[in-house]
Amino acid sequence: MRMSLTDTTTLSNGVKMPWVGLGVYKMDSGEEVVNAVRSALDLGYRHLDTASFYDNEEGVGQAIKESGLPREELFITTKVWNDEQGYEETLEAFNRSITKLGVDYLDLYLIHWPIQGKYKDTWKALEKLYKDGKIKAIGVSNFLTHHLEDLLNEAEIKPMVNQIELHPELYQKETVDYCKQQDIQVEAWSPIGRGNYLDNPVLQELAEEYNKTPAQIILRWDLQQGIVTIPKSTHKERQQENADLFDFELKDNEVEKINGLNKNNRLGPHPDEIGK
Ligand SMILES: NC(=O)c1ccc[n+]([C@@H]2O[C@H](COP(=O)([O-])OP(=O)(O)OC[C@H]3O[C@@H](n4cnc5c(N)ncnc54)[C@H](OP(=O)(O)O)[C@@H]3O)[C@@H](O)[C@H]2O)c1
Repeated sequence: MRMSLTDTTTLSNGVKMPWVGLGVYKMDSGEEVVNAVRSALDLGYRHLDTASFYDNEEGVGQAIKESGLPREELFITTKVWNDEQGYEETLEAFNRSITKLGVDYLDLYLIHWPIQGKYKDTWKALEKLYKDGKIKAIGVSNFLTHHLEDLLNEAEIKPMVNQIELHPELYQKETVDYCKQQDIQVEAWSPIGRGNYLDNPVLQELAEEYNKTPAQIILRWDLQQGIVTIPKSTHKERQQENADLFDFELKDNEVEKINGLNKNNRLGPHPDEIGK
């Protein structure tokens, strides 16, 4: 499986999305996010994942501007937050986000969480923005199979991406299988489990075998299963480490071994509990 940092997966509508991106959750909107995004772009990252909730879209936008990279080389994702959901509210939230980011279109816009009674109207707004050419691809985040089935019953356009919590202790097999069946690209958030599982003996052993780090083993595990991954780091050395995934390949039984670490352990809320 030969790949590089700029290699892409092709979404169901033909849009190309880089397999690896930089997540920016919990980075301050000032120097912290500007420096982190600048260093990632210098290293060759071209995919950035933010959200209105992270309150750092302005900083991401500043870094993009300072980088001088052509807009079409970048893949920019942001998300509509829970209290911005609803048809009109989402159209307004979109405008706020692109203004802060300093861009005139998004590559990917996601519904951050499946807020009951709201997400279908929110989706209609995403469909409108997509049809108006303001977003290249639209998707959801934290949707379980039953949320997707419910949305697909009424949606005119199928989500192209589902971004879910996914790491060795939370594999989410049912949702991943359903998305694959529906040609919805799965994207892993908290892919390295916020650093919580790096001392796991299975990961340590594989790291030793391949002369890699446990974080690299996990990120490679994502890629080999066709999952887009967006590790966050404010440190250039770690950003480099998290992008150095393309000179080794896990064997099928090793992928299975990591799958076996699943404990259905969530770091974030359960999608059915959000907004209650
Ligand atoms: N859709 C959603 O609901 C949702 C929810 C959460 C996150 N996300 C997205 O997913 C992205 C990633 O998730 P996340 O930020 O929660 O967690 P993560 O990427 O799994 O882990 C980030 C943490 O691990 C550390 N780290 C990074 N690389 C490392 C390495 N190679 N070795 C050891 N430690 C390392 C980082 O520290 P340093 O920064 O100090 O290096 C940070 O503390 C977010 O930034 C965000 O864009 C989406």
